[in-house]
Amino acid sequence: MSSGRTALASTLWQKAAMAITGLLLFGFVLGHMAGNLKTYQGSSKLNAYAEHLRELGAPIFDHGQFLWVARGVLLLALVIHLGATLSLTLRNRAARPVAYAYTKAPETSEVSRTMIVTGPIILVFVIFHLLHFTTGQAHPNFRPGDVYANVVTGFRGHFVVVGAYVVALLALGSHLFHGLWSLFQTLGLNHTRWNPYRNRFAAAFSALLVVGFLAVPIGVVLGLIR
Ligand code: HEM
Repeated sequence: MSSGRTALASTLWQKAAMAITGLLLFGFVLGHMAGNLKTYQGSSKLNAYAEHLRELGAPIFDHGQFLWVARGVLLLALVIHLGATLSLTLRNRAARPVAYAYTKAPETSEVSRTMIVTGPIILVFVIFHLLHFTTGQAHPNFRPGDVYANVVTGFRGHFVVVGAYVVALLALGSHLFHGLWSLFQTLGLNHTRWNPYRNRFAAAFSALLVVGFLAVPIGVVLGLIR
């Protein structure tokens, strides 16, 4: 295979890896958002749900074991997603050291610029979020096992934290919107007839996710969850 074809094949593999891992991560956030809405059903329902997640895979897996497998798969997906992004970005830069004065596809460059800003915001958020609600180091009142109490005391009166979540969730919404847009491009779903539906679908899905996630901190601030 010529070096041009090898580079093309490897770019396609990286795009496929980015799309598959992106879909997996997207599936996780969708499930997580839906699960979080249980907070509105009260402490016992949310805590029972969190406990149930630790029982998944029984009796083959012991308590919490399957969760660790799922965490491993998610982490691997994240590493591949980041690796493919970095590699494709560096390759694009190397291939075009001087930017085009005029490009026929401004949308494509606008999309990648947005993703490069929102991606790191989400990464920093996830690290803070794990310290906040999973391990508790960034939580003023962490109670292991009491997910409901941790959510309420983690947001109530902590407006800076709530603000940081709002910023991160808006970044996530933009990232997902542009990610879905890129996925459609990668899959070749690019036709003037379908494009308006494609964009509306990506916008509706991302908005649903952001609103669903925001419903919890906003619910705590408004006293609907206490
Ligand atoms: C307002 C929005 C969110 C709330 C209220 C929330 C709440 C929580 C809570 C309470 C936990 C701990 C669950 C437990 O210990 O059983 C958790 C874990 C987690 N969250 Fe979120 N979350 C939010 C948004 C997000 C977003 C946007 C992401 C990803 C981009 C995310 C990723 C994770 C991850 C990776 C874990 C660790 C799961 C595990 O290891 O068991 N969360 N979240």
